[in-house]
Amino acid sequence: MMEQYAIKGGNPLVGEVEIGGAKNAALAILAASVMTDETVMIENMPDVRDTNVLLQAISSIGGIVERIDRHTVKINGSQIHDLVIDGDYIKKIRASYYLLGALLGKYKKAEVALPGGCNIGSRPIDQHLKGFRALGAEVNIAHGLIIAQADTLRGNHIYMDVVTVGATINVMMAAVMAEGMTIIENAAKEPHVVDLANFLNSMGANIKGAGTDVIRIRGVAKLHRTEYAIIPDQIEAGTFMFAAAVTKGDITVKNVIPKHLESISAKLLEIGCEIEESDDAVRVVASRKLRHTHVKTLPYPGFPTDMQPQIAVALGLSNGTSIVTESIFENRFKYVDELARMGGSVKVEGNTAIINGVERYTGASITAPDLRAGAALVLAGLAAEGFTTIDEIRYIERGYEDFPQKLKSLGAQIELVDTDKALQKFKLCAG
Ligand code: EPZ
Repeated sequence: MMEQYAIKGGNPLVGEVEIGGAKNAALAILAASVMTDETVMIENMPDVRDTNVLLQAISSIGGIVERIDRHTVKINGSQIHDLVIDGDYIKKIRASYYLLGALLGKYKKAEVALPGGCNIGSRPIDQHLKGFRALGAEVNIAHGLIIAQADTLRGNHIYMDVVTVGATINVMMAAVMAEGMTIIENAAKEPHVVDLANFLNSMGANIKGAGTDVIRIRGVAKLHRTEYAIIPDQIEAGTFMFAAAVTKGDITVKNVIPKHLESISAKLLEIGCEIEESDDAVRVVASRKLRHTHVKTLPYPGFPTDMQPQIAVALGLSNGTSIVTESIFENRFKYVDELARMGGSVKVEGNTAIINGVERYTGASITAPDLRAGAALVLAGLAAEGFTTIDEIRYIERGYEDFPQKLKSLGAQIELVDTDKALQKFKLCAG
C-alpha cells in the first residue's frame, strides 16, 4: 500500500505550533542564490519535497550545495557548468523554472523544460516569456524546452497583463544584472516577492518598490555573498489557524508575521473565531458553531488562493450557505468530490462553490488531489467523526514539513501508515 495518513477525528486541537520558512519564498531564493559566484547561506528553509528537489536541480547543473542542517544550506554558483535544467525536475516541481530567470540573468542563457499544467489549472507562462523578451532575450520553445539567450540584457518598462507571482519573480531575477533600469508594472505583491527582493538586495542588487505594484530594478554588474533567513510561511500558518476553526480548538501559531495573515485572521473573525495577535504569534480560539460567509480569492493582500480549500472545508461545517469564488486558478475545486464522501455538501458552478453547511463530516477513505486541497482534507478528517485515510500524501509533503507530527503535538490522532497492518494497529490504538 502507498503511504497514507490515518486519522481518527473529533479531538479539538489545542496548543502551540512553530511555523517553518515559506516554501514559495524559499523556491525563489534558492534559485536566485546561484546568481553570484560567492557563497550564500540560507536559513529557515523549510525541509519539504519541493525545496529538496530544487536543491537537487541546482546540484545537477554544478551548483555546490552544502546542507548545514534541515533548515540551513550553503550554495555556491561559481562552478555551474550546465545551463539546461533536466525535464524531470520540472515535472517534480514547476518552480524549477525560476532557474530560467536566474541563469538568464547571470549567464545570459538558459534552457528549461516547459512546465506542464498541473491539477489546479493550465498555468501558462506567457508573462514570463514576455518579460524575458522585453529585456532583449531571444526566447524559443522547441522540443518541449524553453531556450532563452541574449547578447546583453537591457532594462525595459514591462507591464504584466495579469498579476502573476511567478512571472514577477522570474523577470525580477532576469533584470537584476541587466543594463539600466527595469520597471515592472502590475507586479505581484506577495510577501515572498518582497522576500526575494530583500534577498537580492542583500547580495548587492538595487530593487525598489517590491510589495507594491510597481517594482524598479536598476541593473548592477555583480552580486555577492550573503546570509539570509527566509520569512515564515503564511499558508502553513493559515492552515493551522483553520485547523483550530474546524476542530473547535485553540491553536497559537508561532514565528509568524501577523501582517501577512491579515486576510486570513479577518475571515476567521467573520466566521466566529476569536483572534489574539502578538508580535510574532497569532492565537485562534474556536468555541462556538462557525458562521457562514462569502470569500473570493485574490492576489495579496486579498484572501490567498492557497487557503481556498481550507476555508471551504471550514465553511462546510458552518451554519447556513456560503459562497467561495476562486478568481486565480480555473480548476481548484477538485477536493469537493472527496469532501462529498465525508458528507460535505458543496456545489461547484464555474469558479464558484456554493457550500451548504452540514452538522458534521464523517470519516472516509479519500485521496489528496493537490497540495493545498490535500491539507484541507486532513483538516476535514481531523473534524470528522470516525476514521479517515488519505492517499497521495506526497502532494501534502511538497509543502508541509512534519505535518502529522505537528498535528499530533496539538492533540490530533494521526499517523503516517504504509501497510494494512500499521493501519489496523492505528485503528486499534486510536479506537
Ligand atoms: C505561485 O504560483 C505559487 N507557487 C502558488 O502556490 C500560488 O497559488 C500562486 O503563486 C498564486 O499565489 C509558487 O510560488 C511556487 P501566478 P504561480 O503566476 O507563480 C496566470 C502552492 O500551493 N498566469 O501568480 O504559478 C495563472 O494561470 C502553489 O504553494 C498567466 O496567465 O501563480 C494564474 O491564473 C499552488 N500567465 C494567475 O496568473 C503567466 O505567465 C496567477 O498565477 C503566469 C501566470
